[in-house]
Amino acid sequence: MKKIYAVYNGQFDTLNNIKISPLSRAYTFSDSVYEVIPFYNSKIIAFDKHISRLKNSCKALSISINIDKASEEIASLIKDNNFKNGYVYYQVSRGVDDIRSHIYKDSISVETFGYIIEHAFKSKSLKVMLCEDLRWKRCDIKSTSLLGNVMSMNDASQRGCDEIIMHKNDFITEGGASNVFFISDDCVYTPSLSSNILPGITRELLISKIKDKGIKVEEGQYTLKNLMNADIIWLTSSTKGLAPVSEIVNYETNLRIDNELYKECEKIFNQSFFI
Ligand code: PDD
Repeated sequence: MKKIYAVYNGQFDTLNNIKISPLSRAYTFSDSVYEVIPFYNSKIIAFDKHISRLKNSCKALSISINIDKASEEIASLIKDNNFKNGYVYYQVSRGVDDIRSHIYKDSISVETFGYIIEHAFKSKSLKVMLCEDLRWKRCDIKSTSLLGNVMSMNDASQRGCDEIIMHKNDFITEGGASNVFFISDDCVYTPSLSSNILPGITRELLISKIKDKGIKVEEGQYTLKNLMNADIIWLTSSTKGLAPVSEIVNYETNLRIDNELYKECEKIFNQSFFI
């Protein structure tokens, strides 16, 4: 079996050697947050932004993380591995209880866990399904509590889909593990930040880079009807980069994945980060 390098509570080891307690609150309550930090050509993409979002997620749950130590562990995993492209998964849980209890003790010690994995950042077009957004009201926190996403993404997978686009009261929120963009009439649109979506780092990087090049970007509230009239839709994430939607299996659209403006956005993004 291939060795996966990992770190648990500051100790570096291979993933299969790490043992965790079943009383970890990550296990019993999903009382934990995480980051997925990509690196390409041995360079970490937007490290500071990932660290700052991890800090915000911890703050939202009052988990007192040592952010410098977490940053060092992530950087060490990347520095000491022997592949150039991949990502680090890093999770911070509130800690391990003496016995399961919803209310945690103030004395509990933070539990951290990360591993590194090779990943080829190849752009792939996606088949997606539209789903009602089943999730809670704090989707801006990058919590490991992802059952709404998991349930809908697996329903979609049964229909041969790679991803989902979720909607709440007719408004588009985000993908199962990504943010949503679309183009209509030469303008790029994406749902604005709110507690209904994760503030995606790829989303932020893309908006800033394409705006710099004079491309029109609007952030707002968009309905399913807006998607129906879109020329192209794409999803963004740290592992997918920009991935165009080739088909929505349960919705009528007129998508063209060879849209010129999209190609330009993709080129700007790739030239900024995949070098
Ligand atoms: N997911 N929205 C959700 C619900 C996500 O899970 C993700 C990323 C994004 C995009 O965020 P970013 O651009 O910062 O990766 C949006 C990661 C990759 C995952 O869970 O594997």
